[in-house]
Amino acid sequence: MSLDIEPIETRTSRELPFHRVVPRLLKDPVTELAKMGCENDGRIVRLNVGPFRPYLVSHPDDVQKVIKTDWENFVRAGMFWRPVWRVTGRGIVGEGLDWETSRRILQPLFTTRYIASLGRQMADVIAAGVAELDEPARAGQPVDSALHMNRIVNRVIIQVLFGGRIPAELGERLAPEFTTCASSIAFRLLLPTVPYSVRIPGDRAFLRALKQIDDIIYPLIDAAMRESSVEGDDVLSHVLRARTAGGLGADLRRQLRDDVVSIYGTASETTAMSLTWLWSVLHDHPQVMTRLRAEIDEVVGAGPVQPEHIPRLTYLHTVLQELLRVYPAAWLVPRQVKQDTELGGVRIGSGSQLLISPYTTHRLEEFWERPLDFDPGRWDPDKAERRHRYAYFPFGGGPHVCLGQHLFYMEAPLVIANILSRYHTEVANPQPLTPAPGASVRPKEQILLTLRPIHQTR
Ligand code: HEM
Repeated sequence: MSLDIEPIETRTSRELPFHRVVPRLLKDPVTELAKMGCENDGRIVRLNVGPFRPYLVSHPDDVQKVIKTDWENFVRAGMFWRPVWRVTGRGIVGEGLDWETSRRILQPLFTTRYIASLGRQMADVIAAGVAELDEPARAGQPVDSALHMNRIVNRVIIQVLFGGRIPAELGERLAPEFTTCASSIAFRLLLPTVPYSVRIPGDRAFLRALKQIDDIIYPLIDAAMRESSVEGDDVLSHVLRARTAGGLGADLRRQLRDDVVSIYGTASETTAMSLTWLWSVLHDHPQVMTRLRAEIDEVVGAGPVQPEHIPRLTYLHTVLQELLRVYPAAWLVPRQVKQDTELGGVRIGSGSQLLISPYTTHRLEEFWERPLDFDPGRWDPDKAERRHRYAYFPFGGGPHVCLGQHLFYMEAPLVIANILSRYHTEVANPQPLTPAPGASVRPKEQILLTLRPIHQTR
C-alpha cells in the first residue's frame, strides 16, 4: 500500500463566457444564477460579466470555508457591499473593529431569552396589525400581500427599535422608504462597477428614500441624546446607553443612526418578503395549508395568539424552515478575498469577488432530493435527515451569522397564526412567480390575497 499523499490539485475554475452569462442574468438573475451553480454540481464557476468576473460559490464545503473556518480571509468589502453601506453604514453589516463593537453591543438584544421577553408585546402589536385587514376582508376586497406583510412587520420592528419613542404616524412612514431602498438598490447590485458619479435607474428613488429615513430617524436620536437618564428596553435606548458608557465619541450620532438603520434594514425586508412568498406557496400546496390550519385550530383556537403557542406550532416551524430553503430572503451573500487562497481546488487571487448564494446551494441535487419541490416533510424531526451543515444556511453562519433568527421565529409564526386563525385566505391572482433581485429576494409579480373572516365578529 502506498503512503504517498497526493498533492492537492489546484485548477482554474470553469468560466462561463460573457455571451452566455449576461443574457441569462439580464432575463432572470436569481433563477439563472442558481441554474449556473446547479448545472456545475456546485463546483466553483467564474462568471464573466464584463468588467469583472466574480466566482459563484455553492458547494457546502466551500461555503463553510468562506463564512466559517477561514472567514477572516473572506471579508465583506468591495463593489457589492458599497450600495448596502450607503444605507446601513459600516457597523454591524461591516467588518473589522466597527463591526465587532456593534455586534458586542447588539447581540444581547437578540438572544432567545431577550426576544422571549418581548413576546407578549409583539403578539399584541401583530394582532392589532392583522385586525386592520378586517375591513377589506369584510368588503371582499383583495389586498396586496407584500404591502400588508411589510406594514405588519414594520410595526413590530418599530416597537423593538424605538418602543414608545416614535409617533405611530411617523413609524408608518418608514416602511415605504425602506421598501424603496431595498428594491432600487437592485440596479447597483447588478451593475456594481458603474461609478456613483454616473446616475443609473433607481438612484434617484434610492437617495430620496435615504434622506427621508434620516429625516425621521435623526430627530429621534437627538431627542434621546438630550435625555438626562435614558430608560427603556428598546434598541435605541440600549445602544445609546452602551455607546455613551464608553465615552461620547465624536461619531456617536452617526453610529446610533447606523445601528438603528442596520437593524431596521436587516430585520424588516427579509421577514416581510418571506411572509409574502408564503401565501403563494400555501395556495400551490393545499395539503400543506390544510395541515397548517388544523394545527393552528388545535393550538390557538379562536385566539388570541400568544407567544406560549409558538413551541406547539411544530408543523408551522417546518413550513418556515422549508420556506427559507426555497426562498431564502438573503439570496446572495458577497465576499472579497483578502489574500490569495485555494477554494474547492481552485486558486483564487486576492481582491476577487465571491458570490455565495443560499438560493443556489439550497437547490443542489447532491444535497437535496427533489430540490424544487416544496416539502415541509424534510424537516419532520422524526425523520431527522442528516445533511451537510452548510447545505442549508438561510441565516448565514460563522461569526457573521444572522442576529435575528430568534426574532424571525417569534414574529413569523405570530403573524401567520394570527392571519390563519382569523381568515380563510386565497390568492386572487394565482400565477407563476419570478424571483426578483433586491436586498431580499422578492416576487416580481404582485400577490393579491382574498381574506374571508372565519368568525363574523370578534
Ligand atoms: C427571513 C429572515 C432573515 C434572513 C433570511 C436573514 C439572513 C441573514 C444572513 C444570510 C446573514 C449573514 C450575512 C453575511 O454573512 O454577510 C444575516 C446577517 C444579519 N442579520 Fe439576518 N436574516 C433575517 C432576519 C433578520 C432579522 C429579523 C434581524 C433583526 C435583528 C436580522 C439581523 C441581521 C444582522 C444584524 C446581521 C449581520 C450580522 C453580522 O454580520 O454580525 N436578520 N442575516
